[in-house]
Parts: sequence; structure tokens; C-alpha cells
Amino acid sequence: MNHRVFEEYESEVRSYCRKFPTVFVKAKGAVLTDENGADYIDFFCGAGSCNYGHNNDFIKARVVEYLQNDGIVHSLDMYAQAKGEFLDYFENGVLKPRGLDYKIMFPGPTGTNAVEAALKLARKVTGRSNVFALMGCFHGMSLGSMALTTDAASRKGCGVPLANVTHIPAPYMFPQLDTIDYMETILTDDHSGVEKPAALFVEAVQAEGGVYVLEDEWLRRARALCDRHGILLALDEIQVGCCRTGAFFAFERAGIKPDIFVMAKSIGGMGFPFALTLFKPELDIWSPGEHNGTFRGFQPAMVAAKAALEYMLKYDVEAETRRKGAIIEAYLRENLPKINGKLGCRGIGMIWGIDFAAFPEGSARRASKNCFERGLVIELAGRGDCVLKLMPPLTISDDMLVTGLGRITDAIKSMNLE
Ligand SMILES: Cc1ncc(COP(=O)(O)O)c(C=O)c1O
Repeated sequence: MNHRVFEEYESEVRSYCRKFPTVFVKAKGAVLTDENGADYIDFFCGAGSCNYGHNNDFIKARVVEYLQNDGIVHSLDMYAQAKGEFLDYFENGVLKPRGLDYKIMFPGPTGTNAVEAALKLARKVTGRSNVFALMGCFHGMSLGSMALTTDAASRKGCGVPLANVTHIPAPYMFPQLDTIDYMETILTDDHSGVEKPAALFVEAVQAEGGVYVLEDEWLRRARALCDRHGILLALDEIQVGCCRTGAFFAFERAGIKPDIFVMAKSIGGMGFPFALTLFKPELDIWSPGEHNGTFRGFQPAMVAAKAALEYMLKYDVEAETRRKGAIIEAYLRENLPKINGKLGCRGIGMIWGIDFAAFPEGSARRASKNCFERGLVIELAGRGDCVLKLMPPLTISDDMLVTGLGRITDAIKSMNLE
């Protein structure tokens, strides 16, 4: 297919197609296939939306069966069987076994819808307008979530002041600064000039920020800080939830319970738009319809979401993620230093970052391009796009995982980094 149709008719805002300039037609498991029949191993995974692999047979069969039986597709927020079955399964299969007691809200189909609802609720519950977020965070691109999100290029597109957020240095930015003590100080110092926030928004792993894993102890201290000051702790599980870190929820490893958390991407099972905002029952002070939206009841996503949870439990995707995560870590720790000792490496479970900050700007971009030429799709993250973000489907076979890792190291080797 001539790319002209996209270049002529589609807005200049398009982005990923510029990095991966081919026309994709099929996807199965961890492989994307383009119109020329070329296969690419997918280490991008729909930005974390396809944790269970593309067109996962177990999940897809349920959706196909549902549609063939004329199951209702669009139901707003009316009671519908598929939604009921999803709620029941999620509650009893995932939340209750973890001792998590939350009300579940369908805020609209995308991650940013979930964040907007969380912001609204936190402000409504506390009566405060300010919110704390960490530098390096990514929470979405609509105006409320964008005010949290820190990357300059995205903020520039908004055209209005992005207000009511205080950005706190992320713990990795200034190792000598205790960021919990810093927040304690600005909350108690009557000369700090900082408004007490409704909530502190946190990603347990900053993914878009450059794959930074926040320490368990930091998360626990953040929980305690919020408790001390009556601030709601809001966790964004949109990219790193659904087993990505080796536990279903990325915050689980710290043994904390947020007041609010948001999910999207892989909760939709097979790349379907689907998002959730969850909060402690006592925070459920919404009036009926106070947050609304036409696409809060896309039932095929609920069918896929339930099937994905069944699949996750049946095949112990959490344990598999930890096992394959160890393969990734061992491979990177062994092979990257042999290529160049200045390459950074960090991650958890099956999200890893290779950091090119020590090299000239554009190095990670060149690495991603070289990977694409070798049949691997991989995205960038972090300041100045200096991090290669490895995020294969959690269901990838061991062989393909190692093949993909080999393509990355070959691609980096070919750059002759100094
Ligand atoms: C942590 C996090 N929060 C929110 C979002 C926004 O989700 P969406 O793009 O579906 O609006 C993203 C998207 O990458 C994300 O990674």
C-alpha cells in the first residue's frame, strides 16, 4: 500500500508510523506482520495494551462467540450480562484474594479517561484543587491528566495553562534528596507556598519517564505520608499493571493499598479500549451521572477482559512474567557491558530500559531504528527519548524472547558506541 494515503489524508500528529514505517496487516502472539509478509518481533506491545499477546486464541474465541451470538455490543452503563460477569470475576478472582476492597467505575475507554475521573473524584472528596505528581510521570494527554504529565513536548500542545499540580522531584532524580521528607516539609512549612493537595499521583514504575522502578520503601513511606496528611494516594497502573512487573498490580510488591487506582491498556484483554477507576468504598460520593460518557459500556471489551483474567490465572502469567523477566535481566546484564560499559540498564518483571544518556542525543533513536531494520519493533522513553523500552508480550516464547534480545544487542553493537 502506498504510504501516500496516510501522508496526504492523516494529520501531521501521527507519530509511531514515522518510527515504524510499514503497513501492518496481521498480528499473532508476539509477532507483527506487514503487507510484504515481513515479520517483526513486538517489544512495544501496543504500549502495554497486549500483555497477553496479539489475537490470543483463548481470549479471541470468547469475543468471537459473543459476537456470533449477537451479544449486546453497546450498552452505555446499563446493566448488561457481560459487564456483570466481568465485575464478578474481577472482584472474586483478583481483588478479593488480594484483600482489595474497591468500588469499580467505568470512566470511559482510555487511560486518560480513568485518570480524569480519579482527579475529579479526589478533588470532590477533599475539596482541594491542587494535586502532587512526580517529575517524569506520564498520566495521559487530556487537559487534567496532561497537567500531571511532565514531558515538555506534550505539554506544549495544550494551548492553555496547565494548572493545579505541584511537581515533586522523582526519587531517582536527586539521590541525595529524600523526596518524602521534602514533601513532608512543603506540607508543614507555612512558608512553602504549596497548597495541600487532594492526592499524590504515582506510577509504581515510571514507564514513559524512562523505566524507573520506585522502591518499595519509597512507596510505603508515600502511603504513610498521605495518611499523616489526609491526602489520597492514587496509583496509575495503566501501563505497568496486568502482571507486567510480575504481580498483577505493580503496587502489590510494596504491600500498600492506594486510595484510588486506575487501569487501562491490557485490562482490555486483547487491545480493546477499556479502562477502570477504582477507589475505596467510602470515597464513592459520586452523584448518578456526574461523570458520564457514551463509550463506558463496550461489552466486547468486558468479555475480553474477563477472558484475559481467566487466562492470566489459568496460566499463572504472574509467575511466567517473573521467570521471563529473569531471562531478560540476565541477558542484558551479561551482554550490555560487553558492548559498552556506559549503557544503563534497569527494570522489573518484563519492562526493562536500556539507557543511552551517556551517549550523544539521538543514540537510542538510532538503536530503535536499527532494531526495526532487524525485524523488531521497540519504542523509546525517558528524557530526550534516551531509553530503549523493552516491553514484549508476557506470553512470548522463551526462544522468541531471546531472539528479540539478540536483535537488540546486534542493533546496538552495529552503532560502534564510544
Ligand atoms: C501510566 C500511564 N497513564 C496514562 C496513560 C494514558 O493512557 P491512554 O493513552 O489510553 O489515554 C498512559 C499511556 O501510555 C500511561 O502509560
